[in-house]
Amino acid sequence: MITTLQPIFARHQGQAGSLLPILHDIQHELGYVPEEAVPLVAQELNLSRAEVHGVITYYSHFRRTPPGKHVVQVCCAEACQANGSEALAAHAAKRAQKGDVTIEPVYCLGLCSIGPNIQIDESELHAQVTQKKFDALMDELGDAK
Ligand code: FES
Repeated sequence: MITTLQPIFARHQGQAGSLLPILHDIQHELGYVPEEAVPLVAQELNLSRAEVHGVITYYSHFRRTPPGKHVVQVCCAEACQANGSEALAAHAAKRAQKGDVTIEPVYCLGLCSIGPNIQIDESELHAQVTQKKFDALMDELGDAK
């Protein structure tokens, strides 16, 4: 673990307020923030483990377990909710049980007027996603385990 974290720590050496950037880099590198990273980050930043743990658990963005092969974020903010994102999120969660996909809620993807919206693997945005369209996207992704 420390060999993974050392280059991240080096990038943020001496930077004020580096806890969040370090946690972001760890998640970018590993897909999540493992529990064993907490004491190492705490030691590096001269913080308590509780402080680091508190930040990780406060921000829903940080995963504490490894994600599936693909991560699908379903917008659950107000405008998308008004267009059916709750039903879409439930459908997505059910479908994800069959495959190697992690479904996560997200609160606005910036396409509010054309929801419900999803984002796949932090890059592909899809608007007006129906359950049928969602299934077609998952088929394209090859979401089976
Ligand atoms: S509310 Fe869903 S994209 Fe803004």
